[in-house]
Amino acid sequence: SESVRIALLGCGVVGGAVARRLTQAKDEFEARVGRRLEIVGVAVRDTSKDRSDTGLDASLFTTDAEELVTRADLVIELMGGIDPSKSLLQKAIESGASVVTANKALLGQHGAELYELAEEHGADLYYEAAVAGAIPLIRPLRESLAGDSVQRVMGIVNGTTNFILDKMDRTGADLADVLAEAQELGYAEADPTADVEGHDAQAKAAILASLAFHTRVRTSDVAVEGIMSVTADDIRAARRIGCVIKLLAIAELVDKDGGQAVSVRVHPTLITRSHPLGSVRDAFNAVFVETELAGELMFYGRGAGGDPTASAVLGDVVQAARHKVHGGRGPGESAYANLPIEGVGAA
Ligand code: NDP
Ligand code: HSE
Repeated sequence: SESVRIALLGCGVVGGAVARRLTQAKDEFEARVGRRLEIVGVAVRDTSKDRSDTGLDASLFTTDAEELVTRADLVIELMGGIDPSKSLLQKAIESGASVVTANKALLGQHGAELYELAEEHGADLYYEAAVAGAIPLIRPLRESLAGDSVQRVMGIVNGTTNFILDKMDRTGADLADVLAEAQELGYAEADPTADVEGHDAQAKAAILASLAFHTRVRTSDVAVEGIMSVTADDIRAARRIGCVIKLLAIAELVDKDGGQAVSVRVHPTLITRSHPLGSVRDAFNAVFVETELAGELMFYGRGAGGDPTASAVLGDVVQAARHKVHGGRGPGESAYANLPIEGVGAA
């Protein structure tokens, strides 16, 4: 066709930032892709909200996401949640569209089905923004490290809880006081219990472990403990011994029955202040990757927020759009190793 037709599902913190950038830097994006980009519609819940800051014409906003996905070459899903996101993405892929999403909750639970469907229909399914916001992490794990063997991934992958723990450490505040601020800054999930109870990090850990160990790891396979029980006293006690408490996601290869297994967990962890993860502030994220050949790698950057997350989403959009124009496809998701999983699912 004459243009790459883009449908945006969701225009909140991240969707709004994506829309603004797509309109502001339209010429630049079109030059990078090599074709005109046309936003054909934006699905929202409430069409009466003022969204003029996006630069998009009010007539583009619709509540009929089902119809919208059938007239796009590229669908960007930034609504969140499982229902109706899952069925909308399935419909989009079945209609021949490629898909970009930041929805870790959906991928952690139903990623395998969606990858298979995308494979079947020759569609791209990109999700760089789903783990650690702006940090390029999915592509390095899936592509740059494809010739190496990952042994361990360990990191701070939830911006809200890092913001809370850091603020508690610096000001002595209680968790409840700081959570509201993280919500105002656009870091928290629509339901912030997903952040503080560790479920957001749990889904991200599952996604990272799947890529790192070429094994399908689902959210339910990941043992999880959130930060709800961490008190201002715990943080002071950690401080007295030169430590901080961080919510870590840890995925590693372990020995099991003479072979190897994958172990994945999320829990508050006491680490020394001098440790590189000990100095990660605000809503920043950081992920250590240990591999056989490369040794230690560290990825660091903003893990949440509209613009940082939009950066990762738009990188995927450019890549998927280029494939629509020039041919080619993103790499598939391989789960050839299928190692046993040590965790809640296996317990
Ligand atoms: P918001 O709650 O700010 O935005 C959600 C948007 O989706 C809103 O525009 C809402 O419409 C729309 N929406 C929700 N449900 C429906 C529905 N059923 N039909 C049509 N539209 C719907 O969420 P975020 O932007 O914060 O998050 C979006 C996604 O990005 C989530 O998957 C989240 O996990 C992920 N993410 C978020 C990050 C962040 O820092 N915020 C970082 C990385 C990933 P309306 O505006 O009318 O209410
Ligand atoms: N709520 C998430 C966080 C958004 O705080 O990290 C980024 O995925």
